[in-house]
Amino acid sequence: MRTLLIANWKMHYGPMKAGGWIRAFRRERLPKDLDIAVAVPHVSLAASRASLGRASIPALAAQDAFWAQDGAFTGEVSPSMLLEFGVQFCLVGHSERRIYLGETDEMVGKKAATLQAAGIVPVICVGENEAQLKKGEVSKVLKAQVAAAIASLKPDGKTPFVFAYEPVWSIGTGKPCPPQKAKEAHEIIRSAIQKKFGQSVAEHVRVIYGGSVDAHNISEYVTTTGVNGALVGGASLDPRAFALLCRTANPA
Ligand code: PGA
Repeated sequence: MRTLLIANWKMHYGPMKAGGWIRAFRRERLPKDLDIAVAVPHVSLAASRASLGRASIPALAAQDAFWAQDGAFTGEVSPSMLLEFGVQFCLVGHSERRIYLGETDEMVGKKAATLQAAGIVPVICVGENEAQLKKGEVSKVLKAQVAAAIASLKPDGKTPFVFAYEPVWSIGTGKPCPPQKAKEAHEIIRSAIQKKFGQSVAEHVRVIYGGSVDAHNISEYVTTTGVNGALVGGASLDPRAFALLCRTANPA
C-alpha cells in the first residue's frame, strides 16, 4: 500500500500566499513512491490549481465539503464544485469542525458518502479526546465514529476512502501519540471497517495518523504496521519543512 502524506494548512494561506507555498514545495526534491496531497482552504483552491497547472504532485485536497451537490445551502461548497479544481481528496469530520462547528457523526457520514459518489476520496477523521482517553473509552469512541462514517459508503466503488486517526489530545499540542498506541487504534478502525465490508476491503483502506507529526517522528509512524501515512498540520506550513518530512518518510 502506498504511503499517503497530507498537508493540512487549516485556516492558513489565502489565495495571495497559496501559490507561493505550492511553487516552493515543487522546487524541492520530492519522493516519487509516496502519495502527497495538500489540503487548502476553499478560497485558495483556484490559486493552488493555477500554480500547480497540470502537475499532480502534490494532489489537491479540500478541508471540508457539504453533503449535497447543489441547492439552498448558503455558504456551503459541494463536492462537484471541488471537482472543478481537480480536487482528489477531501477531509471530513476533522475534530476542529466537530468541536467548533458541532459536526456530528451523522453529518460526517453524509459528507463522506457524497464525496465518494462524486469521485473524491473522503479522508475521514476520527479520534478520542483527552477525557475519553482517561476514561478508557478509545475503542468505544472509535467504533461509533467509524460505524457512522461508513454507514452510506460503498466498499467497491472506483473511489476508495481513507481514515485518519487523530487523537484530539495530540493535535497541535506537541504530544504525538506513541506509535504503538496509534497502531492499536488503527487496528480498531480497521476491524470496524472489516465488520461492515469484510477482510479484503479493510486490508486495502489506508488508515493514516495525525497529531503533532513532524520530520523528527514521521519515520516512526510510517514504519509501524497498519499506519499508512500521516495528516500533518503545523509541520506542513513551511513548504521546505514539509518536503523534508516527505523525504524522511521515504528516504529511497
Ligand atoms: P498538527 O495537526 O500536525 O498540527 O498536530 C494535525 C491535524 O489536525 O490534522
